[in-house]
Amino acid sequence: MLQKYDRRNKKLKVFVNGSVVSRERAKVSVFDSVVQGGDAVWEGLRLYEEGILWLDRHLDRLVDSAHALAFKKVPSKAEIRTALRKTFKANGMTKDVHIRLTLTRGEKITSGMDPRLNKFGCGLIVLAEWKPPVYDNRGGIKVITSTIRRNSPLFLDSKIHHNNLLNNIQAKIQANVAGVDAALMLDKDGFAAELNGTNIFAVSKDRVLTPFATACLPGITRGYVLELAEKHGIPAVEANLSLTDLYTADELFCTGTMGELTPIVELDGRKIGRGRNKLFRKLEKLFEKELRGHCIMP
Ligand SMILES: Cc1ncc(COP(=O)(O)O)c(C=O)c1O
Repeated sequence: MLQKYDRRNKKLKVFVNGSVVSRERAKVSVFDSVVQGGDAVWEGLRLYEEGILWLDRHLDRLVDSAHALAFKKVPSKAEIRTALRKTFKANGMTKDVHIRLTLTRGEKITSGMDPRLNKFGCGLIVLAEWKPPVYDNRGGIKVITSTIRRNSPLFLDSKIHHNNLLNNIQAKIQANVAGVDAALMLDKDGFAAELNGTNIFAVSKDRVLTPFATACLPGITRGYVLELAEKHGIPAVEANLSLTDLYTADELFCTGTMGELTPIVELDGRKIGRGRNKLFRKLEKLFEKELRGHCIMP
């Protein structure tokens, strides 16, 4: 699915390192770590009328990712919330907004890899755009399996939500070439990890299954779907899922802040489910009904 330019974003104001500036002036230094080495962490958040869904969980993951990468002088959560508030106010935003929150290791005194060159503390960017969920959650999406593997903790722990997205981007290129919406990435052992930008779930014989969070981002939407299932008595477990498990599942769906809950109707040319189950729509209804209770204003 190719996102379209939204005219409402023409006059966007962006928070960059303490200032709120126009979209044209929203820039970082060539000495910034994100330019030099993709050395940054990020979160995607969604603003509903009642506030940001699971704001605390997103801020915890951002700060944890920065800590795991040994960032210095990380802004406090209160400072990040203030930056979010300022950005919403400058844009008159109250709902229907996706926010890309980026925390970089900051500027270096000279070009180089060594984090000791970072003398100024972290950089913070709040890019809030008018953006409804990006996938077709009615009709669903088509997916192929990528030849690019998702990182295991052996190489780069996928629990860190970092900006080194090249393997996911390569997978997405394969999906584009195949003319489908997204790519399934396997782990180093050949089990499903996640899609290039979302987590994957299967429904099989009235059970909801999702890969262990060893080679996928433990998505906040993924965690919430598991909690919703438990709360409403729907059996849901983490499991090693092979491609055959996925091809023969009753339903497949993916989850993420960008698209919420999205059915997968085809994987590698195999039609999924053939209408054998309705658990996806049940979970989707529960998600829509209950999410507002977990939104808070920054
Ligand atoms: C690779 C990847 N998987 C899954 C997700 C979904 O995570 P969440 O539900 O926290 O938005 C994201 C979101 O950024 C992602 O980048």
